[in-house]
Amino acid sequence: MVTPPATHRLRAKRDQLKPVSVKSHSSAVVQLEVEAITVGSFAVRMDFGVSLRRKPGFTNEAVDTPARTAEFIAHRAARRETLQRELADLLCAQPHITLEIGAGHGHYLADYAAAHPGEFCLGIDLLRDRVERALRKRDRAKLTNLVFLKAEAAEVIAALPPSTILAKILVLFPDPWPKRRHHKNRIMQPDFLQSIASRTEPGAILCFRTDDASYFSAAKAVVQNHPAWTISTTTLWPFERATVFQSRAAVFQSLVATRRANSS
Ligand SMILES: C[S@@+](CC[C@H](N)C(=O)[O-])C[C@H]1O[C@@H](n2cnc3c(N)ncnc32)[C@H](O)[C@@H]1O
Repeated sequence: MVTPPATHRLRAKRDQLKPVSVKSHSSAVVQLEVEAITVGSFAVRMDFGVSLRRKPGFTNEAVDTPARTAEFIAHRAARRETLQRELADLLCAQPHITLEIGAGHGHYLADYAAAHPGEFCLGIDLLRDRVERALRKRDRAKLTNLVFLKAEAAEVIAALPPSTILAKILVLFPDPWPKRRHHKNRIMQPDFLQSIASRTEPGAILCFRTDDASYFSAAKAVVQNHPAWTISTTTLWPFERATVFQSRAAVFQSLVATRRANSS
């Protein structure tokens, strides 16, 4: 049997994905809820919320119905409740936590948690296989102050128990989204800074590191212009341990910001 080229198999996989909502009628873009698809040796990252161009013949009628929209809203609400329950179970005894967003395979946070037994650490990532590997690392090291969860950053922040305070937020080598039209997908945006500010106390630390120079400049500007955060030149990077992406980077830049007093 002849194996179809990877792009054909990718398209075939894409066509099996289930659309969950119509984002825009006019631009004919549908939102699909997918995690990651693997075609041959290609692992294609398609995280939750990614948008794909509608393929020809894929009509709005197929997805754009009140029933579909209601199904999507109900699905999202159920997921939010599940996440709230999971986080309440994991964090109820932990007033202050260190949160790593996009923890990948957990190399950094596992070593961080081992070196900081007095802190409780939560690592989140969108990709299940990465979270599973991180959990295995945690179990092998018998760390009781560390959990990993497959979850999306904005959803986690919104679902944190009301009593949970973020003491440190680590964002290490987040997806850089290098194309200009994709910059809006970068995590370091004013809304993100606001959402974490609302879950922190003055003095909380935000650590950001990237090997993408354009992302670094943009993120620095976003932090400088945000009323809740100030870039600190005196606060040290809390812990050094190369992440997977750091070990592949020739150079990288880091930024430490602290939560200002009188702002949330
Ligand atoms: C470029 S990788 C870096 C992984 C790790 N921090 C490192 O330095 O090796 C970015 C990671 O962030 C995760 N990610 C991207 N957007 C996310 C989001 N909104 N919430 C949680 N994780 C996210 C991706 O799944 C991916 O594992």
